[in-house]
Amino acid sequence: MKTEMAAIEIRNLTYKYQNAEAPVLQNLNLTIEKGEFALVSGPSGCGKTTLCRCLNGLIPHFYGGELEGEIFVDGLNVRETPPAKLASHVGLIFQNPENQLFSFNVERDVAFGLENLGVPPEEIRRRVDWSLELVGISDLKDRAPWELSGGQQQKAAIACVLAMQPSIIVFDEPTSFLDPLTARGIFDVIAKLRRKLDLTVVVVEHRLEALAAHASRLILMDHGKIILNGEPRKILAEAAERLSLKVGIPSVILLHRRLSKLGILEGLTPLTTSEMAAQLRGVLNRD
Ligand SMILES: Nc1ncnc2c1ncn2[C@@H]1O[C@H](COP(=O)(O)OP(=O)(O)OP(=O)(O)O)[C@@H](O)[C@H]1O
Ligand SMILES: [Mg+2]
Repeated sequence: MKTEMAAIEIRNLTYKYQNAEAPVLQNLNLTIEKGEFALVSGPSGCGKTTLCRCLNGLIPHFYGGELEGEIFVDGLNVRETPPAKLASHVGLIFQNPENQLFSFNVERDVAFGLENLGVPPEEIRRRVDWSLELVGISDLKDRAPWELSGGQQQKAAIACVLAMQPSIIVFDEPTSFLDPLTARGIFDVIAKLRRKLDLTVVVVEHRLEALAAHASRLILMDHGKIILNGEPRKILAEAAERLSLKVGIPSVILLHRRLSKLGILEGLTPLTTSEMAAQLRGVLNRD
């Protein structure tokens, strides 16, 4: 049954992989409203990918294990909804696009999920063209995935998910195998999708500099728990105070903290270098 609620609603989620000794996620609660852009970060092994798997039903439907609590995405109870049905509501982009591309040309890969759903051929063609156009790789549709660069492969993987027209897309470190410039291209695609479509976006990412200014919410995890969750500026300022947190706090935030402690700067924590530059210009003009 579909009910009106937040895009993602997680209540008291505790999860233990099959044969694992201890739970990986512990009593996790999280609400992400429709249309939000949530950024998730935290040290390696803290459970970010596991959380992503809970959102599209890979957990528990493929991984098994022991799951307690409730997960709702787009109003659907993940535990009770078959993964094939969930795929039209929530799409997951992995670190490694090769996991998503397995045919001999891009167009066929993008059509694959729709063919499985029995979508009519005309509609498949329309959606494939639309998805490739949105991610900007229409010219690559006849190419084999292994002929593409890493960035092009990741765009093809995003097109595969888009073709299913989900209302939520979850990106699990989509740029970790890419160089900074190519990574920026992927972040631009994510920003464009959010602008053009009525989407809820969740991005797991270490490179907070690139995305914090675009996010409506920043979620920091550690040891299977959410330790900070809220407006990015506020959360980063708090994280900078607690340097024991193992997250990649952007250098503008750390610099701002030091200069504030020295009494040189005051005011809002900057999220971008241009915000920082504006504050410094203010100080220089003042003196
Ligand atoms: N399939 C699995 N079976 C058993 N344990 C697993 C499985 N996948 C992950 N784990 C364990 O769960 C914990 C959390 O892993 P997860 O991959 O969710 O972390 P992560 O935050 O995504 O880390 P990274 O930043 O390195 O991607 C780790 O201790 C990991 O070893
Ligand atoms: Mg991971």
